[in-house]
Amino acid sequence: PSFTSSYHTSIVEHYENPRNVGSLDKTSSDVGTGLVGAPACGDVMKLQIEVGEDGVIKDSKFKTFGCGSAIASSSVATSWIVGKSVDEVLTIKNVDIAKHLKLPPVKLHCSMLAEDAIKAAVRDWKGKQEQNASA
Ligand code: FES
Ligand code: FES
Repeated sequence: PSFTSSYHTSIVEHYENPRNVGSLDKTSSDVGTGLVGAPACGDVMKLQIEVGEDGVIKDSKFKTFGCGSAIASSSVATSWIVGKSVDEVLTIKNVDIAKHLKLPPVKLHCSMLAEDAIKAAVRDWKGKQEQNASA
């Protein structure tokens, strides 16, 4: 699947007016939360997904305490993953996000946060499903 197409019209928007800032109820069994930090700079990103019964991501929100590139990367990431399955979004690579935002090499780790946060959120959600299945 291609993650490089989008309904968004402007990359600038991800910097000036990031999409999907906020929080979902992390106690809900439908919600997965990923919290990751960048060792290089200490910035932190929280990305959450709400998953439907069909395994498709219905909603996603983020809170990023970090640089502008990390915030823009979160905005792109949350925009891309809504409407896709939890397995499909695991194939999103930080270089796809970096390319999309035209990040310079020194800012690559900022997009890495977004990739890691997606994976962490999916892992958290999957863990909850296994717990429910065995309960
Ligand atoms: Fe928004 Fe591409 S400009 S995801
Ligand atoms: Fe560290 Fe951007 S400078 S996340």
